[in-house]
Amino acid sequence: MQKPLNFKLVLLGESAVGKSSIVLRFVKQQFAEDRESTIGAAFLTQQMKIAEDLIKFEIWDTAGQERYKSLAPMYYRYAHAALVVYSVGSKDSLDRAVKWIEELKRQADSNTIIILAGNKSDIPDNTKQVANSDVEKLCEELDVSYHATCSAKSGAGINELFLKIGQLLPIQ
Ligand code: GTP
Ligand code: MG
Repeated sequence: MQKPLNFKLVLLGESAVGKSSIVLRFVKQQFAEDRESTIGAAFLTQQMKIAEDLIKFEIWDTAGQERYKSLAPMYYRYAHAALVVYSVGSKDSLDRAVKWIEELKRQADSNTIIILAGNKSDIPDNTKQVANSDVEKLCEELDVSYHATCSAKSGAGINELFLKIGQLLPIQ
């Protein structure tokens, strides 16, 4: 049996953007409309084959509610990658995501890879508040390694997202 390479991944972002839903989709191929808001943080693992390597993601799914904000550094410390999530239905959540990226740049390990994901791509176009072109510009300014949209609800873009994170990891 191949021994997996362990990597720590942290999810950050405003409450209700769908961080836990993304993790649940990736780890269990499930989705629930009536998810409870995360308290503190949740820990899950999932393995994935990237080319010849077997990767084990150790995933810290943090709570987005403001009252848990001060706990975040505990979870992004020593993280190989940070997945910052916003909802394409909420401009405010994109602003919050930018704040997280700025905090990571300031305080996280300089090797932590930052990925930005716009969740809820399944919602009707007339309810979307964030245009892809705006985000691409932001990503350049903020030096984000990768940006994509996804839907934990439909599953669109979820495996691709984690595959991309895996490919960005420093595998020797
Ligand atoms: P906190 O734990 O409070 O930080 O929130 P969270 O970011 O973990 O959000 P969560 O995964 O709990 O999802 C919040 C709500 O959005 C739930 O009602 C989900 O069903 C819904 N949701 C999550 N992902 C999607 C998606 O891709 N599309 C749609 N339409 N709804 C989604
Ligand atoms: Mg959650």
